[in-house]
Amino acid sequence: MRPDRNLALELVRVTEYAALAAARWVGLGDKEAADQAAVDAMRLMLDSVHMDGTVVIGEGEKDEAPMLYNGERIGDGSPPEVDIAVDPLEGTDLAATGAPRALAIIALSARGAMFDPGPCVYMEKMATSSRFADLLELDRPLGETLRLIASEKGTDVRDVTVAMLDRPRHAEAVEEIREAGGRIRFIPHGDVSAALIAVTEDSPVDLLWGIGGTPEGVITAAAIKCIGGQLLGRLWPRSDEERQAATDAGYDVSEILDVNRLVAGEDVFFAATGVTDGDVLQGVHYQPEGVTTESFVMRTRSGTVRRVHAQHNRVKLREITASRAG
Ligand code: FBP
Repeated sequence: MRPDRNLALELVRVTEYAALAAARWVGLGDKEAADQAAVDAMRLMLDSVHMDGTVVIGEGEKDEAPMLYNGERIGDGSPPEVDIAVDPLEGTDLAATGAPRALAIIALSARGAMFDPGPCVYMEKMATSSRFADLLELDRPLGETLRLIASEKGTDVRDVTVAMLDRPRHAEAVEEIREAGGRIRFIPHGDVSAALIAVTEDSPVDLLWGIGGTPEGVITAAAIKCIGGQLLGRLWPRSDEERQAATDAGYDVSEILDVNRLVAGEDVFFAATGVTDGDVLQGVHYQPEGVTTESFVMRTRSGTVRRVHAQHNRVKLREITASRAG
């Protein structure tokens, strides 16, 4: 069989460009501007990818997002037909405050393969590495799951660490984990990055748990399908109205969604570039002679995970991008 095209290698240019554009706003306290810069850059660069794409997870509905809105057609219309999930700036707040772990992300799958989050903004998620994947269970008390992980690791629960968004809605889970003796690594934002650490074997984080964005859950699933591990999710309606809207739209809010349900098939591509420094990727660094980026490029079919370090020429970058990213 002739080797086919690895779209992720083209997508990394898209995330690099989004990260470069967003990085100009790091630490300036304006998260909307940082996000807009990433969206504009991503949209512009996506035009260079030959594909017939539909944005399934984007910046929202058309009337609120002029670009990369859900349903937008992207590419020149040539095959392959793909679903696109974008998170041009994952962690807008992190970028605005100069905090670690902001990323520019894109994921692609075959047409119709991506879970459409519909009206549910949040989902409950749990993610871990392949080693503990069989121990995931959303309805089991967290303390018990921690004990099972500890026993699989051959350690004490005190050596098990859970990464979790720091949110009041997690108070009960925090208590359960602490009662069991486990540790918590709170993050202010960015549960995609935290999930990537949790699914990495022998990393300092054993488990990601929490209620976070549904789009981020789908994007994380795309990455996990390439690097291994598991994520279980369940929609988490914020109100009775949201629950009803989801039910009316045909969603079963009690369904347990694993990575294959969130992104089906083997034709899944994922690219992410660091905007600010993090545990999984370095951010954009400015030096007199150039700008450097670090990215992940992954593909499910081959399971190849590439780490791409790029050096961008500041002067040329400015010429090409009208100073957007240089
Ligand atoms: P933004 O990039 O849109 O700012 O979202 C970041 C994030 O922290 C995600 O990583 C996470 O899934 C979600 O927001 C959590 O939502 P909330 O801040 O409303 O709890």
